Formats: sequence, structure tokens, C-alpha cells
Amino acid sequence: MADLDAVLHDASEVLTAPAPTAPGIREDAAIAVVDGRIAAVGPTDDVTREYPPENAARAIDANGRAVVPGFVDAHTHALFAGDRADEFAAKLRGKTYQEILAEGGGILRTVRAVRAASDETLLSNLLDHLDTMLAHGTTTVEVKSGYGLDRETELRMLAVIDRADDAHPVDVVPTFMGAHAVPEDRDADDYVDEVIDEQLPAVADQGVAEFCDAFCEADVFTVEQSRRVLEAGRDHGLTPKVHAEEFTRLGGAALAADLGAASADHLLHATEADAQALADAGVTPVLLPGTAFSLGADYADPDTFAAAGAPPALATDFNPNCYSQSMQFAVALGCTAMGMTPADAMVAATNRGAAALNRDDGTGTLAEGAPADLLVLDAPSHVHVPYNFGVNTVERVLKDGRVVHRREGAA
Ligand code: NIG
Ligand code: FE
Repeated sequence: MADLDAVLHDASEVLTAPAPTAPGIREDAAIAVVDGRIAAVGPTDDVTREYPPENAARAIDANGRAVVPGFVDAHTHALFAGDRADEFAAKLRGKTYQEILAEGGGILRTVRAVRAASDETLLSNLLDHLDTMLAHGTTTVEVKSGYGLDRETELRMLAVIDRADDAHPVDVVPTFMGAHAVPEDRDADDYVDEVIDEQLPAVADQGVAEFCDAFCEADVFTVEQSRRVLEAGRDHGLTPKVHAEEFTRLGGAALAADLGAASADHLLHATEADAQALADAGVTPVLLPGTAFSLGADYADPDTFAAAGAPPALATDFNPNCYSQSMQFAVALGCTAMGMTPADAMVAATNRGAAALNRDDGTGTLAEGAPADLLVLDAPSHVHVPYNFGVNTVERVLKDGRVVHRREGAA
């Protein structure tokens, strides 16, 4: 017998995000959850007639609040040790991200901290961040390695990411990013050989990573070096992703299109031709407004990608340089700094995030059949997420139909 897990009724609206550009707003709506998946979404009267709340393991009276899909954060570096708060202060005084990296700070400093940290410290750091993400509505998150830059530490990071996935209600999607920076005192080509010959085979044997990412950027990895890593990763069964056109337009977007990557991310300097190439190749652009915010850089233009036929995803890029776990903040910036409509920004943070992670089981939507990963807001519409910026508008989080977070004091 199928289990009626939950009936959530009397929502002011349900944003179902069923398609790349469709918010699918249903007013005065209810949702029935059977075996962890959405069995019905529609007018409260219709849904509750077919699925009486009293027959459900849990009845939730949304009582005029809005319901939206759980956020899918498709780009983070959420596993690290230490912080870089002092670099934040230095950047405010005019130092650039690249200057900090060239001096052995930035990513390289976090690499030293991660190598020195125990597995237990790393795991507890990541679990703390997952708690914060969940409380802010994230139900699926991608987490990259890339602060190890040697075989042993990259494998340790991926093992910790896997343990966190098992231990925490948030779904954690693991990405191998040995090509995140060139280690100190190493030649880039030589290090790329190490990634391909030593790290990737071990990562494939370990069997945790699903994606392989590379930082294709001036003074980091060239297009050719990135291609070598990503093709080798693909040979090991890892789907490519690319950090592309973040500080300079190097050609990472064209590379992502050529490789048929799942996503090309950052894209602050991408052109219309880049957007078209991504659209033609079915690559999801992932825009990371928190990064532009914390770097003081110009934002990517979502319209360029939407007009080309590649509606973008929004993600946090949570890392020690961009210290926000909140998809709500990414949505707010998507609207106020990048000009997206609240509905488009919400679809970008849910449906499109799932596309960037090749999730095609309905994750990121509240369409029938989708996993029941959903948020009850403490507000009457999704517009309040970006409108009421800087605070948490999420009251309750369901993952696979189970309540996994409830704000203190919520009914
Ligand atoms: O996506 N750009 C490269 N990687 C990260 C930053 C990581 C770090 O600074 O620690 C990013 O922004
Ligand atoms: Fe990144």
C-alpha cells in the first residue's frame, strides 16, 4: 500500500516551477505527498477531497502561506577549514582576489588549512554549513573538492562529502575539482599531469565524485589544460563542469559547449556568442551573484542567456571568499542587482539548479512525480523571498515529504 505521507493545504500559492521558464503558480492550493513524492498539486478543495488530510501521516495547514520547491544550490565549495575574514577586509581596502592568490593567500591558504585539518573537523564544518543551508531552504547542494590539490587530500575531501550526504537530510552532490588552483611552487602543466595520472584514477576508484570541474582562468588553468583534465575526467565517467569567464574571457564557455558539460559557471565576462554556444549545446549557465557582490565586480547578465535559449541557474558559490550559504540572498541579488523577476529568480534557484546537476527526476519542481522537497515560507508569496531581503523567510522545510526543519516557534 502506498503511504500518504503528508497533505499540505490552504497555501496562498504554490510555485511549482515545472519548466525552465515557467513559475507555474497555483493559488489557494494544496499538495499531497505519497511515498515521498508529489502525488497531486491543485486547488485545496480538489486535493483534499481525493487525499483527506486526516488520512495522512502528517497534515500541514499552510494557512495562507506560500509554498515553493526546495532550493537546489548547484555550485559551492562548502567543505573547507578556517576562514578568510582578514582577506575580506583587505579586499575592501582595494586588494584584488588575484593579488591575494598570487601571494599564496586565497584558495592556497584554504588548501593549507584543509590539509592540516582532521577528517572529523572537516565533517563537522560541512555538517554545520549544511544545517545553515537547510534552515535557509536548500534541499540539494553540490559540493566541490579542490582544497586538497594532492591525491590524499582530494580523496579525503570527497570521502567527507560522501559521509555528510549520508548523515544529513540535504542531498549532497559531489564534484572533484583537483584543478582548482596550481599548488604552490608547481608548474601548471606538471600539476595537470598529476591530476590526470594520479588523482583522477584514484577518484574514479573511490567512486564518490559525479562531476569534474576545472578553474579555466588566466594565471590558473588554460583552456587546453582545462580540456585535458575534463576529458580525462569524462573518460573516468565524471561529467564535466567549467568555471568559465569569471575574471577574464578565456574561452571556458566555448570549452563547456564543446565538451557538452552539465554547466558553465560564473560567466561574468561571457558574450552573446558564448551564451548561444551554451544554449546550442544544452549546457546550463550557472550565475553566482554572491561572488560579484563580494568581489565588487559587475554582475553577469541573465537576459543574455535567457534570450539565447539557455535560462540560467542561480547558485551561492559558498566558499571562504564568498561567505553566504543562503540561496535566498542569491535570489535577492538576482532580482535587485541583475534585474530578474522574482518568479524567474526562483525558477533559476530551483528548476535550473537541478538542470545544472543533471537531475531529471523533477528535483527543483513541485510537479506531480517530483520528490517532495519543499519550503513553507512565512509569507504569502514567493516575491517576499527577494523583497524581504537579508532575513530568512523559510519557516518549514520538507525533504522527500518529511519535515526536516522547522523554525523555532513556528506552528
Ligand atoms: O568559484 N573561482 C574559483 N573558485 C571559487 C573561489 C574559491 C576560493 O576563493 O576559495 C569560486 O569563486
Ligand atoms: Fe566556484
